[in-house]
Amino acid sequence: MRVGIFNSAEEASKEGAKIIVEFFSRKPASTLGLATGSTPLMLYAELRKAYANGDFSLHNSLAFALDEYVGMDSDHPQLYRNVLKEELVGDDKTGLSDANLRTPNISHPDPDVAAINYEAAIQAAGGVDLQILGIGADGHIGFNEPGGSLSSLTHHEVLASQTLEDNARFFDKDSDQVPRTCITQGLKTIMNAKNLLLLAFGESKREAVTQLIEGPVSAKWPSTVLQHHPSVIVLVDEASAGDLELSELYRTRWQMLKHID
Ligand code: GLP
Repeated sequence: MRVGIFNSAEEASKEGAKIIVEFFSRKPASTLGLATGSTPLMLYAELRKAYANGDFSLHNSLAFALDEYVGMDSDHPQLYRNVLKEELVGDDKTGLSDANLRTPNISHPDPDVAAINYEAAIQAAGGVDLQILGIGADGHIGFNEPGGSLSSLTHHEVLASQTLEDNARFFDKDSDQVPRTCITQGLKTIMNAKNLLLLAFGESKREAVTQLIEGPVSAKWPSTVLQHHPSVIVLVDEASAGDLELSELYRTRWQMLKHID
């Protein structure tokens, strides 16, 4: 795990975009994994800028979302497919086509089957080359809530009450409007991506960041499974990194070593 600690979320997002742009310049037409939530928004804005400057393009790429809410209307603005379209799809954004943006099919009558189909689609595409991740305050990645299998594939999941409260801000601050279930890539699915880039910002993520980087691997903090992945970059701001015991070592490693192949 490579940990980059930055003064602000903005600096960390710029670094994240730089890493993605460089990765795609070396490996064009790679498959990108997309996270939602507020954390990657500045990163996506940077990718749009890089596209406008001619430095980056998703024209020839597939992109797979990490997760999707179940039971929402297809035109709901908070449906993750619609959020990601708004951020990345089109020749005015990053060149990603609507057809190449893949999200779980929530119009399927059986979410378990939709989950199996989504897992198969990721595998059929040859897997994800670079997966962007955020993290929930309870340590979830995708929507893999605490207490689930560390080896799960894409599955139908329930949202923890902490997540319902956290995500209420996207639903008129009313947690009752947040869908109760979702389809999420499993922890094993995420672990199968070749490279992972996780961003976390702010006080509210401090405990999750500490556990992710320095905690014991446990189903209680699902993101800790990433300690077993060979290529993970974690970009954090000072506020979320405040309780890390070994931050000096992470800073030295960040300055002296390469982060990604
Ligand atoms: C959401 C998403 C995750 C995201 C996390 C953090 O519920 N399913 O993919 O990483 O929670 O969200 P935010 O970045 O808004 O804090």
